[in-house]
Amino acid sequence: MEYDRQKWNAKHAAKRGLHQADSFLLKHFKLLRLGKALDIACGRGRNALLLAEKGFEVSAVDYSDVGLKILADQARLKQVAIHLIELDLDQPNPLADYCPFDSIICINFKPNPELLKLIPHLLSKDGIFLWSSFNEIQADQTPFPLEKALTEKAFVDYSDLMETLIYERFTDITGARDGYVFKRK
Ligand SMILES: C[S@@+](CC[C@H](N)C(=O)[O-])C[C@H]1O[C@@H](n2cnc3c(N)ncnc32)[C@H](O)[C@@H]1O
Repeated sequence: MEYDRQKWNAKHAAKRGLHQADSFLLKHFKLLRLGKALDIACGRGRNALLLAEKGFEVSAVDYSDVGLKILADQARLKQVAIHLIELDLDQPNPLADYCPFDSIICINFKPNPELLKLIPHLLSKDGIFLWSSFNEIQADQTPFPLEKALTEKAFVDYSDLMETLIYERFTDITGARDGYVFKRK
């Protein structure tokens, strides 16, 4: 874990400026439930910043202290408040102290099976979980690891507690991805 965390720290430190917010998030933004929001694996925070600027009360979690520091600086510049949580999402039951959330987003990250199972329990009723990440086409065409890739429709019925509102397979400037929007029953 420490090796991977340092790799992410180095990647985030090497980048300058923030990319635009995620295309799948922008496309389905109106489906989010305004209120408390959580950005899972927020990185340098392009998506958390968008939510904060749109009036959400945002928490953002990642294990990269470098990514979180960049997000903290950007939040200060933009004069928005974001609650930063530095933790390893592979630890058991990682986010129980902070819930419930009205919206959870997770962009370009595949939570482990335990965390995926936990997410419905972190949401309030009618809360929204918006998730998009790279798929096996991306793994086939780039060095992206297959074990981290989403496969076609794999999570459409992933929880009895969630209604699937959207499933899309698409390619944008970041690569070939699958995207989901779920609503907590
Ligand atoms: C591809 S980046 C995505 C960043 C952000 N969601 C975005 O779309 O700009 C993946 C992020 O996952 C974080 N990450 C990977 N494994 C993690 C773990 N076990 N716990 C917490 N964060 C993790 C990395 O530090 C990195 O910031």
